[in-house]
Amino acid sequence: MTRPTDISAVPYSGPPLHGVPDDLVVHGVLDIDNCDERLWVPQTKDVWFRPLLFSVSQGYFVNLLRVRKSGILSRHRHTGPVHATVLRGRWHYLEHDWWAEEGGYAFEPPGDIHTLEVPEGVEEMVTLFHVTGAYIYVDPKGNAQAIEDVFSKIELAKEHFEKVGLGADYVNRFIR
Ligand SMILES: [Fe+2]
Repeated sequence: MTRPTDISAVPYSGPPLHGVPDDLVVHGVLDIDNCDERLWVPQTKDVWFRPLLFSVSQGYFVNLLRVRKSGILSRHRHTGPVHATVLRGRWHYLEHDWWAEEGGYAFEPPGDIHTLEVPEGVEEMVTLFHVTGAYIYVDPKGNAQAIEDVFSKIELAKEHFEKVGLGADYVNRFIR
């Protein structure tokens, strides 16, 4: 059997495959300082997230997390894998000896329980997180206190977009 080798500049002209969702493209992801401020959804005081993708069909989300304070942010457990790429600033987990540095990448395995700290002197931290499953916020013994997942993120974003005049439906452009 021979492999098809036609790579000429001719687009595919057949029917679309069944059930494939629309592509999703977000511009200016790395342009942290110049993006529309309304895209940053307040999460807690001095913490915002900018959604890039809410995958309701696979239970994950991709977002930029922006933190403008130092100190402990949260202690949490992950139910799924997390991929983090640091765009600005630095942070670490009290439980580990590595630091997430600007321009670096970190993988957080499911089941890891850790306490996120942004150190003194970091005025702004921005990290691109790809988070599958849920954050379970826990006390120092690991007892669950609250959860966060793609669905709770969507609710926060909807409320925010409505409030800032983009309309609650604006959230739909990030949902697949
Ligand atoms: Fe984490």
